[in-house]
Amino acid sequence: MKKKNLIVFGTRPEAIKMAPLVLQFLNTSEFETKVCVTAQHREMLDQVLVFFDITPDYDLDVMKPNQNLYSLTATIIEGMKPVLEDFNPDYVYVHGDTTTSMAVGIAGFYSGAKVCHIEAGLRTFDRQYPFPEEFNRQLTGKIADYHFAPTNLSKENLLAENTSEKNILVTGNTVIDALLYGIDKVNAKNFKDTEIEMLKEKLDLDRKIILVTGHRRENHGEGLLNICKALKEIALANKDVQIIYPVHLNPNVKGPVHELLAGVDNIILVQPLAYPAFIWLMEKSYLIITDSGGIQEEAPSLGKPVLVTRTTTERPEAVEEGTVLLVGTDSDKITSETHKLLNDKAYYNGMSLRHNPYGDGKSTQKIISFIKEL
Ligand code: UD1
Ligand code: UDP
Repeated sequence: MKKKNLIVFGTRPEAIKMAPLVLQFLNTSEFETKVCVTAQHREMLDQVLVFFDITPDYDLDVMKPNQNLYSLTATIIEGMKPVLEDFNPDYVYVHGDTTTSMAVGIAGFYSGAKVCHIEAGLRTFDRQYPFPEEFNRQLTGKIADYHFAPTNLSKENLLAENTSEKNILVTGNTVIDALLYGIDKVNAKNFKDTEIEMLKEKLDLDRKIILVTGHRRENHGEGLLNICKALKEIALANKDVQIIYPVHLNPNVKGPVHELLAGVDNIILVQPLAYPAFIWLMEKSYLIITDSGGIQEEAPSLGKPVLVTRTTTERPEAVEEGTVLLVGTDSDKITSETHKLLNDKAYYNGMSLRHNPYGDGKSTQKIISFIKEL
């Protein structure tokens, strides 16, 4: 009998990072593989499913407007019971640090399946920061049977928590597998994309583009107001620069960003972009200002400096390499670092090295080989 895999994800970044694993497992005849989405995100998840051409076998469809962590967690755990009973998987795969990862990890454990954690071992060691992600990943790390760590540092974090070394594999991050697949597809001669055409109309590609994203819960409120204040200052002081901000659909982000930044003529606010348009835009950008985890990992492959609007990161590797800089949410710091990158070419060149500590795009293959060996 074939061993059964259930790959589960719920949000945009999990979908992007799990897509290569889904595609390769579906091409591996030794396993029966099914996909379950919690749909913790709806529109932003569906954008990814379309691009990677993945049709889920199960869809819990849990997203509610402005959902809270209590009911989201409970609904996911309850929703997983019939799925796990129906498919009865040997392995349940979860990714990273979202509420989906943590809740599905618990449900997978209850079902008796082996829980496989992709992107394991990232830590800030501060349970409040990022909230609730640090707690989610620590808990998922406790639940998981097998840990696929992107870097040696994440492996060390797991060893420090007494995780058995034989159950850890350093793989690189599957985000790079997805990025290489995505770039190939976007650069293919016959690839057409309406969002990319829309961006070409809105942007003057001869001018410097600053790409912005932001969504972290701990930045909601004052942090986000400070970031918007800085963006406005940068836009007004640099009329030749264009700031483009695909705004996350979380109402705690969308509301204030539109209120504070709409109407500034060199700030362009757009809906969240589907993955192909977003990676196209990253390539065209001069620099990126973000609090996103995934973008910190992708940008070094494209040689784009990143200013991270957080005070700590569970991804210190690129900070150490010098391509990512933590600027927090202090508006003066964001403005001054941006001006330095806009005006000091040598400084800019130092931050735009094309070297990526998060892998070479072969992470998925390593994960599958490990599972085959079990
Ligand atoms: C979630 C994850 C965060 C991850 C982020 C990626 C948790 C606790 N948080 O945060 O770790 O970095 O996703 O983007 O797991 N919404 C929509 N449509 C969508 C997506 C979101 O309308 O496609 C709105 C809904 O009102 C939803 C709200 O955003 O209730 C918040 O979504 P949620 O997944 O709870 O939090 P995120 O801030 O997206
Ligand atoms: N991304 C996207 N469209 C956007 C913004 C981001 O496709 O408008 C992609 C980005 O390339 C990266 C991922 O989404 O792969 C990051 O997701 P997000 O910032 O929401 O979550 P995080 O990585 O912080 O958990």
